[in-house]
Amino acid sequence: MKLLITGGTGYIGSHTVVELLNLGHTIVIVDNLANSSTEVLSRIETITGKSPTFVHADICDRSALDCLFTEHRFDAVIHFAGLKAVGESNDIPLSYYHNNVSGSITLFEVMASHGVKKLVFSSSATVYGENNCSPLDESMPTSATNPYGQTKLMIENILFDLAKSDADWSIACLRYFNPIGAHQSGLIGENPNGIPNNLLPYVSQVAVGKLPKLQIFGDDYDTQDGTGVRDYIHVVDLALGHVKALEQLDNIDGCQPINLGTGNGTSVLEIVNTFKDISGQDIPYDIVPRRVGDIATVFADASIANNLLGWQAKRDLAMMIEDTWRWQSNNPNGFA
Ligand code: NAD
Ligand code: WQD
Repeated sequence: MKLLITGGTGYIGSHTVVELLNLGHTIVIVDNLANSSTEVLSRIETITGKSPTFVHADICDRSALDCLFTEHRFDAVIHFAGLKAVGESNDIPLSYYHNNVSGSITLFEVMASHGVKKLVFSSSATVYGENNCSPLDESMPTSATNPYGQTKLMIENILFDLAKSDADWSIACLRYFNPIGAHQSGLIGENPNGIPNNLLPYVSQVAVGKLPKLQIFGDDYDTQDGTGVRDYIHVVDLALGHVKALEQLDNIDGCQPINLGTGNGTSVLEIVNTFKDISGQDIPYDIVPRRVGDIATVFADASIANNLLGWQAKRDLAMMIEDTWRWQSNNPNGFA
């Protein structure tokens, strides 16, 4: 297939591009490099022996997208492009709504006008809000507690309406739980700008000596050790979930939300202790008050992904952390 991958130089996009190139698909990436680097492209080439076409453009730029769809006859689009930092979205909500929502609408309009109506969209478990109990399944009510989450929810709702309005669309809305890990080669991985917000990049930067100490946000939750529990999923398993979704798009009617998670919960302290064992590094931490907006426990019911896509996460926590550590220790400054 010839595929357009928006945000394909980012963390999840680059791992998905590797899997798609390995399967022989032809890839065009469009990315504005807001949170990624072209160095990823040569790393992808080293891993796969193949090069995706790269177009440096913004998905909000209608004429750039129009040119792209005129030049290439795409079979489908995987739409990763978006801003993703929850805290930042509270500070600059308009940028998030513009980039994520307006950018997505522009993309969907250009797709429709060129008759490309197969889409895999990067949604998030954040759309389950704070009022559902885990395991979270796709029939549960959705809500959002911050502008980033609102953008994912708005885009999902746009896609449900779009699919209702025109039966030619086939859309998989993949709701990711907590992606971590890196490619086994240690050549590509997560490369956050500035101080990381998410747990794993923070822990790995403490382990490599770039940050002095982890702050654990609360040890008084109703969980096995009092720290927050999440469903961490290896980014390569996540990438393979996209491959399966793409292969099953013809069997999807309308717009289908699909959880991509392992179904297992792991606490912050379990992450810290496993990271310590695997890396052999000390991970000093302080327990600090809960982070506003966090909830105790989040993990997936992944039955729809299992049954509809024939997909299941295979990589365990040890592999997630070994691969994170290989990436971080081989590339202490990311792609710089
Ligand atoms: P990332 O920031 O590494 O990748 C996103 C890519 O999109 C970047 O390369 C960035 O430069 C590009 N981009 C952003 N705005 C763009 C625009 N207007 N035009 C063109 N390119 C643009 O993030 P990621 O972790 O790979 O996430 C990919 C997608 O998955 C995002 O939509 C994110 O919201 C979603 N998601 C991520 C997580 C997570 O924890 N990483 C969890 C759930 C959902
Ligand atoms: C995990 C656990 C924290 C950092 C976020 C987004 C979500 C999705 C994935 C995009 C929690 C604890 C964290 C730290 C800590 N992204 N923690 N110290 O909050 O589950 O999800 O990323 O869609 O929308 O909200 O992930 O990695 O930030 O936190 O103790 O320095 O680690 O309290 O229990 P989260 P996270």
